[in-house]
Amino acid sequence: DQHKLLDALSRPLRDLRISLTDRCNFRCPYCMPIDQFGPNHPFLQRDELLTTQELARTARLLVELGVEKIRLTGGEPLLRKEIVDIVGAIREIKGVQDIALTTNGSLLTPARAKALADAGLHRVTVSLDALQPHIFARMNGVGFPVQRVLKAVDAALAAGLTPVKVNVVVRRGWNESEVVPIAERFRGTGVIVRFIEYMDVGTSNGWRLEDVVPAEEILRAIGEVHPLEAVPPRVPGEVATRYRYLDGMGEIGVIHSVSHPFCGGCTRLRLTADGELYTCLFATSGKPLRPLLRSGASDDEVREFLADLWRRRRDAYSALRTQETKRMGKVEMSRVGG
Ligand code: GTP
Ligand code: 5AD
Ligand code: SF4
Ligand code: SF4
Repeated sequence: DQHKLLDALSRPLRDLRISLTDRCNFRCPYCMPIDQFGPNHPFLQRDELLTTQELARTARLLVELGVEKIRLTGGEPLLRKEIVDIVGAIREIKGVQDIALTTNGSLLTPARAKALADAGLHRVTVSLDALQPHIFARMNGVGFPVQRVLKAVDAALAAGLTPVKVNVVVRRGWNESEVVPIAERFRGTGVIVRFIEYMDVGTSNGWRLEDVVPAEEILRAIGEVHPLEAVPPRVPGEVATRYRYLDGMGEIGVIHSVSHPFCGGCTRLRLTADGELYTCLFATSGKPLRPLLRSGASDDEVREFLADLWRRRRDAYSALRTQETKRMGKVEMSRVGG
């Protein structure tokens, strides 16, 4: 019965991405440029955030509607004090098959990684846009040292938060020279690197089509040095297109949402830290859930609210991207979660 829940374009609900905070200790210019996210930026206040119980209840009801995979994101989710409890509460939900966390790695110490694994986290994806210290410093906007993020990847591996993935946003003129070195750094380690086309998320990063390095170009650069072959998708509607090294040294992925949009198979729902639901990464507004959660509504009422939102969903932004949509008041990535 739950498997009958489809949106208006016949897409099932499978993934839930929960942003735990809109704050981050990095200021990556493509996500939270410092001039727009300065000391006076109006970040969410504590009482606006969903509590652990509210988050877990929402997640449980969405699992009853078909969600199998839950990703915790931000901002930087490890800034959220209750993170270990939140993971523990989500682990208790029957039917969740995959619990993952996206982090910038700055706070992922070996002890933290172990605590998260013990609480029930399955795996971690670390964002890392360069290996050269000066390029990494520029990509994260706060001069954070790359060595500490590399240590976070090791901590995740040691804690068994596998498969560990590394996300690389590639931006023309900034870090395209790092593509091959990053691929080589992780070849043969079991870490899966995914190269992401820089996207026009939000309105503050000044995105231009010229800044995008198409996935095809990334694959060509790597494939010239280490030949690759395509790997079929593991599940339908997967974000990353997979490739493996012919010499058996592992796999990589490319996320080509600009050059080849994948909205047709998009099964993702996003929940912001303050309890708004977004049916697309590029939506202009969300649907507030917090008032309903705090109104004493029954599980049946909340579940029906969620199901109704999904049934009416028609988003396919990347497939429709135009000059018009460029000027819309789209939600910021740091708020809605990667
Ligand atoms: P795995 O389950 O490990 O494959 O991860 P994932 O497919 O959930 O990918 P991840 O969360 O690491 O997302 C990587 C990047 O892909 C994000 O940071 C976004 O830049 C982009 N991305 C993820 N989901 C979407 C989506 O629904 N639409 C678009 N346009 N981009 C997305
Ligand atoms: N385009 C593509 N990816 C982005 N991310 C943040 N902003 C963008 C953007 N404009 C990615 C980060 C991280 C995840 C949370 O989202 O690099 O991997
Ligand atoms: Fe923070 Fe990630 Fe955005 Fe960078 S991309 S500013 S690390 S949330
Ligand atoms: Fe899904 Fe929207 Fe991304 Fe398309 S643009 S894949 S509909 S989140």
